[in-house]
Amino acid sequence: MRVVLIAAISADGKIAQSPLQSSLAWTSKEDTAFFVEKTKEAGVVIMGRRTFETIGRPLKGRRLIVLSETPGAVEGVEYVNASPRDVIERLEREGVTQVVVGGGSSVYSQFLHAGLVTDVYLTVEPILFGGGVHLAEGFDPIQLSLVEVTKLNAQTVLLHYQVAPS
Ligand SMILES: NC(=O)c1ccc[n+]([C@@H]2O[C@H](COP(=O)([O-])OP(=O)(O)OC[C@H]3O[C@@H](n4cnc5c(N)ncnc54)[C@H](OP(=O)(O)O)[C@@H]3O)[C@@H](O)[C@H]2O)c1
Repeated sequence: MRVVLIAAISADGKIAQSPLQSSLAWTSKEDTAFFVEKTKEAGVVIMGRRTFETIGRPLKGRRLIVLSETPGAVEGVEYVNASPRDVIERLEREGVTQVVVGGGSSVYSQFLHAGLVTDVYLTVEPILFGGGVHLAEGFDPIQLSLVEVTKLNAQTVLLHYQVAPS
């Protein structure tokens, strides 16, 4: 199973200025296009309830799994209350071969801590927040291997890393 973490970060490594901020408020249209392309390729997206609330609707053409301890009622969204490992094992049993982990910080942290992430895509946008929401925290260092650097536009760079086998 490929478990692909996708995040847009500020040049000082934050994913938002505050937990309620939508990424669309500060990321480039090229980053949005990349997110759409990559999530359509994977077919399945997993995200936390707070991130979903910044979007507020299902993702057209993709299966959306929202992690929450409380069942939600948005049509076209699967609400799941489970650990990352249980979610991935369930999807594997269903024959899924690739998923995107779409944040936010708490969800990225849990998937990284569980050692489930195989690929990391970071879009670096040309802004310093000077504070805000960390990409992820609470795990031992994870060595990455740089696969590709793509310039999305004159100001924005996309980094693709693979997680090195431990
Ligand atoms: N720049 C980017 O690429 C990017 C991407 C995604 C998000 N973000 C930003 O990240 C911020 C949100 O991150 P966040 O860490 O505050 O929240 P989050 O990870 O989006 O959501 C946290 C919530 O998800 C649920 N949850 C998480 N793990 C769970 C599990 N294993 N089982 C059941 N429920 C689980 C809980 O919901 P309940 O409280 O309902 O139980 C928890 O309160 C926003 O500002 C958003 O814009 C940025």
